[in-house]
Amino acid sequence: MRIAITGSIATDHLMTFPGRFGDQLIAEQLDRVSLSFLVDELQIRRGGCAANISFGMGCLGLSPVLVGAVGTDFADYRSWLERHGVDCDSVHISEVHHTARFLCTTDEDHNQIASFYTGAMAEAREIELHPIAERVGALDLVLVGPNDPAAMLRHTDEARTRGIPFAADPSQQLARMPGEEIRRLVDGAAYLFSNDYELGLIIQKTGWSDEEILDRVGVRVTTLGPKGVRIDRKGEPSLHISPAPERGKADPTGVGDAFRAGFLSALAWGLSLERCGQVGNLTATHVLEQVGGQEYELGQKVFIERLAAAYGQAAADEVAAHARCHYV
Ligand SMILES: Nc1ncnc2c1ncn2[C@@H]1O[C@H](COP(=O)(O)OP(=O)(O)OP(=O)(O)O)[C@@H](O)[C@H]1O
Ligand SMILES: [Mg+2]
Repeated sequence: MRIAITGSIATDHLMTFPGRFGDQLIAEQLDRVSLSFLVDELQIRRGGCAANISFGMGCLGLSPVLVGAVGTDFADYRSWLERHGVDCDSVHISEVHHTARFLCTTDEDHNQIASFYTGAMAEAREIELHPIAERVGALDLVLVGPNDPAAMLRHTDEARTRGIPFAADPSQQLARMPGEEIRRLVDGAAYLFSNDYELGLIIQKTGWSDEEILDRVGVRVTTLGPKGVRIDRKGEPSLHISPAPERGKADPTGVGDAFRAGFLSALAWGLSLERCGQVGNLTATHVLEQVGGQEYELGQKVFIERLAAAYGQAAADEVAAHARCHYV
């Protein structure tokens, strides 16, 4: 099963300011702000939803096709992803813009001042899926993740017209997209991924009821944070899968993406929805235990052992027959 993951590819630059923003801002002079915060820590992390999901799938032994737009500065990031099994040959390289970048400074009270530079991501709307499908033979599923909104609509429309099954994963972009566009992203999706808060937003913005959404998608996958995941299909009882126990929490950034990586990998192996949810949960737990969305190591032996401990030996045996984790 060949899966393409479309969406954002970005780097995060995270800085810490050892003071309070509020002490630097002068209420009477807000019309002439000119401030520079001397920060004492900078962490640069690889991110972007499509890159995070592809990385996770690569770590489990698949070779997902990453689809998105970046700048010429992508070379190092590309070799990192390729080393982890990701097919980057369909990533569009902009000649003029840099790769999207998230710049965020946090003060000692956890207030944040951040900017997101879209950069090359705006060119994702120029990407056509057809040549990608031809290059790899065929595409069995296209995930449409958060991206330039025009690109999300284009990929969805193209998948629908060409009869390629697609997974809708609009997450962060739900906030800014109007209901009419969200309906276009969701209608006819083979899978709809969101967290429970985002599902509420989808219901509110599309005007479709819970039932109506189930009428329009094949499988609805709703992550519930520390409560695990719920999987719904029309006319079937809900499937609830409890989270995989974690060995400590470091940082939740990227848990949602890692869940999708695990879920889609088990799907590609032909396993049941229950197994998909279990593999998704355990992959997400790995991210939770590290700082950053791509800092975890998936070791085959430990992964299978932890799966057995969380979900039983039968689950572990089924997954072991397919998983080819990047690390032993
Ligand atoms: N505290 C936790 N303990 C165990 N597993 C967790 C915990 N929080 C999240 N998870 C796992 O991660 C999955 C996704 O989490 P969540 O619903 O918070 O995603 P999200 O809100 O999209 O996150 P983000 O967008 O920040 O990556 C859950 O279904 C679960 O498997
Ligand atoms: Mg999310």
